[in-house]
Amino acid sequence: MKVKTLGQFIIEKQTDFPFAKGELSRLLRDIGIAAKIVNREVNKAGLVEILGETGETNIQGERVKKLDVFANDQFIAALKAGGEVCAIASEENDEIIPIDSEISKNAKYVVAMDPLDGSSNIDVNVSVGTIFSIYRRTTLSGPGTIEDFMQRGTEQVAAGYIIYGSSCMLVYTTGKGVYGFTLDPSIGEFCLSHPLMQTKTAGNVYSVNEGNYLHFPEGVKKYIKYCQEEDKATNRPYSSRYIGSGVADIHRNLIVGGVYIYPTTTKSPNGKLRLLYECNPLAFIIEQAGGKATTGYKRIMEVPITELHQRTPLFLGSSDMVDKVMEFMTKYAEVKA
Ligand code: AHG
Ligand code: MN
Ligand code: MN
Repeated sequence: MKVKTLGQFIIEKQTDFPFAKGELSRLLRDIGIAAKIVNREVNKAGLVEILGETGETNIQGERVKKLDVFANDQFIAALKAGGEVCAIASEENDEIIPIDSEISKNAKYVVAMDPLDGSSNIDVNVSVGTIFSIYRRTTLSGPGTIEDFMQRGTEQVAAGYIIYGSSCMLVYTTGKGVYGFTLDPSIGEFCLSHPLMQTKTAGNVYSVNEGNYLHFPEGVKKYIKYCQEEDKATNRPYSSRYIGSGVADIHRNLIVGGVYIYPTTTKSPNGKLRLLYECNPLAFIIEQAGGKATTGYKRIMEVPITELHQRTPLFLGSSDMVDKVMEFMTKYAEVKA
């Protein structure tokens, strides 16, 4: 079988962007490099002292870092070294990181990322991920500013995630379908394994943290009960699957068909997940794969953004399932949780 690496694939696809000069390709390549380094550390997380907050100093005199800080540092370093971005926004940084260097002075892009998604799963050997979203800058020159990030999800030029799972995969879209690459550790390359990924219209997995049930909106409560009912025609009851790493839950549902729900709760009235670097990129991927992503009422990618770390409820997955849960949300909108 002829293997196509991420690098080869990106070069081939460059012709999809008539005015691009290869910057986006290089940017995706840089993300791939950081992903390999993070994967290497994730794989040996049980061996080295990278779990938890150790507060220790290692043999090189460096402070031992939590894996999410390590991942953040790696992605920032790779993006800075690549010279294609003028600013980075990260879950790990309160403010944006403007980039002011000689090689990035003509940079056209900004990247928003969740460097390590599912952090609570690091210490228990369960899949974690990285999520990234790429926008064209809106400011004209110099280091990027917060304004460059205040764009709706519909303006994304590319987005994707890396899942550090039983294998490491990089999945991305530039708005022309979703492509998945699996890391072949023997050659250290991401190889095209899932061309043009499509999700099922009607899945049968629902993923939600049911521990929060009492605090869910009435529509979500009623939908969960609907999922549990017996009905041959719609293949119910559905299976409940929830890992607690959004990337892993959404990756599985993308492949087998299902819905991922993180609604508002009484504790988190705006939901938990972040619009800029979690919901929008995952929404772009799922829409490109034929699915839907909404707030329960409207399309995620059209939600106006006013804050870097803005939160939103998320209902994402197979389109029939998202439609169904939205129907419940509208029907029970008036009932208080
Ligand atoms: P992060 O580790 O980046 O903070 O994100 C965790 C997110 C998401 O990945 C996951 O689906 C969700 O939080 C799990 O939250 P609960 O533990 O509240 O279910
Ligand atoms: Mn996250
Ligand atoms: Mn995170």
